[in-house]
Amino acid sequence: MKAVICAEYGPPEVLQIVEMDKPAPKGDEVLIRVHATTVHRGDSRMRGLDIPGAAWKKLLARLVLGFNKPKNDILGMELAGEIEAVGQGVTRFRPGDQIFASTMWSGFGAYAEYKCMPEDGVLALKPANMTFEEAAVLPSGGITTLGIIKMANIQPGQSMLIYGASGSVGTFAVQMAKALGAEVTGVCSTANLELVNSLGADRVIDYIAEDFAQHQGKYDVVFDAVHKMPGNYGRLLKEGGTYLNIDSSSDRIKKNDVPHLLQELQELAEAGKLEAVIDRRYPLEQIVEAHRYVDTGRKKGNVVITVAG
Ligand SMILES: NC(=O)c1ccc[n+]([C@@H]2O[C@H](COP(=O)([O-])OP(=O)(O)OC[C@H]3O[C@@H](n4cnc5c(N)ncnc54)[C@H](OP(=O)(O)O)[C@@H]3O)[C@@H](O)[C@H]2O)c1
Repeated sequence: MKAVICAEYGPPEVLQIVEMDKPAPKGDEVLIRVHATTVHRGDSRMRGLDIPGAAWKKLLARLVLGFNKPKNDILGMELAGEIEAVGQGVTRFRPGDQIFASTMWSGFGAYAEYKCMPEDGVLALKPANMTFEEAAVLPSGGITTLGIIKMANIQPGQSMLIYGASGSVGTFAVQMAKALGAEVTGVCSTANLELVNSLGADRVIDYIAEDFAQHQGKYDVVFDAVHKMPGNYGRLLKEGGTYLNIDSSSDRIKKNDVPHLLQELQELAEAGKLEAVIDRRYPLEQIVEAHRYVDTGRKKGNVVITVAG
C-alpha cells in the first residue's frame, strides 16, 4: 500500500511517499480502507516539532513522540473510510461498514491507504448524510471542541464569544454553541466574516477593524479557539462567566468520554446541526503542499487529503 512517512522532524519536505505491506487485522481489529484523511494543525505541529512555550515542553514532546523522528512515523490523526476486513473476535463492525475515526489513541497512521484499529477504538459509523471527505474532518477538531464546549454547561440564550472562529476548532465551536441555543459572537479577520456568518453566528467581529476589548462584562462564555487572543480576556466575561482555551481546556477532556463524543458528532451531523467546513482538498501525492498550506496558520476550517476515490 501507499503511505506517507515522516522521516525526521522538519519542514513539509521531510514527508515521503513510500510503498509498504498492507496491514492485517489482529483478532480485535478492523482493517479500514482509507478514503479521506486531513492535515490537522496537530499534524503540521508534530511534523515540525513545533511545540510552543518553554524549552522543556519540546524535550518532553521528543520523549513522548520520538527523539529524532516520530516513533509512529505515519502521521494522520483522523480518517473516514470503509471496513474491508475484521479480526475473528470483532462484533461491532463488519466488512462494508462506512466509518469515521480518530487515530490519536491508535498510533496515528491515517496517511495511508489502509489502517488497522481496535474495534473499541475511537471509531463510529460515518454520518449517513456526509461524504467520506466531510466525515474525515470531524474527529480531531470536533471531539476536542465538543468536549471543551460541554465544560461551560451553556444554557439557551447565554452569550458566547468565540475568538478565532474561522479555524477548524472555531467553525465547529460556532455551530455547536448555536445548537445549544447560545447567542454567538465570532471573531475573525475580514476575509472570513462571511464564512463565520454563514455558520449561524449572530454577530461577527473583524478583529482588524474593531477593538472587541471594549466589550467588558458582556459574555457568559469566552472561548479562545486559536490560543492567540490578545489582552485580558477576563474583562470580557460577566461575573461568574467561563473562560475556555483550546490549549489549556483540551487537557481536561477525559479519555473515556472520547468515543461518546465521536458518537455525538455523528448525531449532530445527521441532525443537520454540524457541517464540515473544507477549505482545500489535495490528493495523497500532494501531502507536502497540503502541509505547507496548513503551516501558514491561515486555513479556513479544514484541509482534506483524498486517499481513495
Ligand atoms: N489539543 C487538541 O486536541 C487540539 C485539537 C484541535 C486543535 N488544537 C489547536 O487549536 C489551535 C487551532 O487549530 P485550528 O486547526 O482550529 O486552526 P489553525 O489552522 O491553527 O488556525 C487557522 C485559523 O486561525 C485564524 N487565526 C490565525 N491567527 C489568528 C489571530 N491572531 N487571531 C484570530 N484568529 C487567527 C485564521 O483566521 P484569520 O486568517 O481570519 O485570522 C484561520 O482561520 C491550534 O493551536 C491547534 O494545535 C488542539
